[in-house]
Amino acid sequence: MDPTNRTQITIFDTTLRDGEQAPGCSMGTKDKLRLARQLDQLGVDIIEAGFPIASDEEFRAVRRIAAEVQRPVIAGLSRANRQDIERAWGALDGAKRPRIHTFLATSDLHLQCKLKMTREQALAQVGDAVSYARTLCDDVEFSPEDATRSDIDYLCKVLDVAVAAGAAVLNIPDTVGYAIPEEFAGMIRTIRQRVKGIENVTISVHCHNDLGMAVANTLAALGAGARQVECTVNGIGERAGNASLEEIVMLLSVRQAQLPYQTAVRTTEIYHTSCMLAEIIGFGPQPNKAIVGRNAFAHEAGIHQHGVISNPLCYEIMTPESVGVSGNDLVLGKHSGRHALGKRLAELGYSASVPELESLYGQLMSLAENKKRIYDQDLLSMASSLSRRETARAAS
Ligand code: KIV
Ligand code: ZN
Repeated sequence: MDPTNRTQITIFDTTLRDGEQAPGCSMGTKDKLRLARQLDQLGVDIIEAGFPIASDEEFRAVRRIAAEVQRPVIAGLSRANRQDIERAWGALDGAKRPRIHTFLATSDLHLQCKLKMTREQALAQVGDAVSYARTLCDDVEFSPEDATRSDIDYLCKVLDVAVAAGAAVLNIPDTVGYAIPEEFAGMIRTIRQRVKGIENVTISVHCHNDLGMAVANTLAALGAGARQVECTVNGIGERAGNASLEEIVMLLSVRQAQLPYQTAVRTTEIYHTSCMLAEIIGFGPQPNKAIVGRNAFAHEAGIHQHGVISNPLCYEIMTPESVGVSGNDLVLGKHSGRHALGKRLAELGYSASVPELESLYGQLMSLAENKKRIYDQDLLSMASSLSRRETARAAS
């Protein structure tokens, strides 16, 4: 497909806000600033830097990011009331490109049980909050929290009010990760058909992963006309997390022949960003996490290892280098084959004859009975009998 025909998708990163709200993911100002700089390197369009009313430290962190990270839009979250909005603006006003992101729940469940408010009161509050935010900042985003469990007629009325009050972006959150793709796409289509003035507004989506559907729902929403996606590095976020940035970006990149979209993300910065986040919060993604998990480019099964040695495309749909990983990892263990053993020995500087390789393979299998993973040190001690054949290459 001609790249000029691709639709640009805005990447709104909320690692520092929704991600940071998740248990065990809190970050101090210094770390937030460090990660914000890396998100800038990564090429995201918008950084949601925090929820300034939440605490003084949060306020200070948003303020520093706003002052020091100049290229992306810097957003700050606020509930839909004047005090929150003022606090958000106080943190954002030094930004080159500030955005106030304000939200109010629209499902009857949230209105009745959490906010103790009628639908009419909420409508009025949205109008007041968005127009007040617009007196401070040109770029205002509004989110109807719990949109996917809201009555669609009422939701459209709320969105009408937000647009009339001056919101430039309407973000549709699947707050509790309840939606399924076709249904979510249908909701976006209905919003596009019914909301007055929608043609002048960007539709955004913000999907949680409680049913493992966050990325699928995000993709379905793009098909229905959403043009901004909210996501987080490593998919961190409330409960089961948010749609994962790396999965969305690589989905659009790897399947570009089928998907007519593009993002400004530098994919080669993905792995470094993931590792930086893991280092800051003290835990990384699960080993089998798509794109950035430890096993995402690792192969242990003999047939797979042989295939990858012949041509990585046999078992890899993207190169490790395309996401900033230095190469695939042929893991030696009880499922490995002779090809991978021979290759690793060669990398370590040894060349083994066929009978020697056979003997080493037997030793490897016995060792792998008791050990989940075989390390280079294990191979080096097994290969000591080959020492006279050692080449100039040093073991890594
Ligand atoms: O999940 C959610 O509804 C949110 C909003 C504040 C956008 O995080
Ligand atoms: Zn959220």
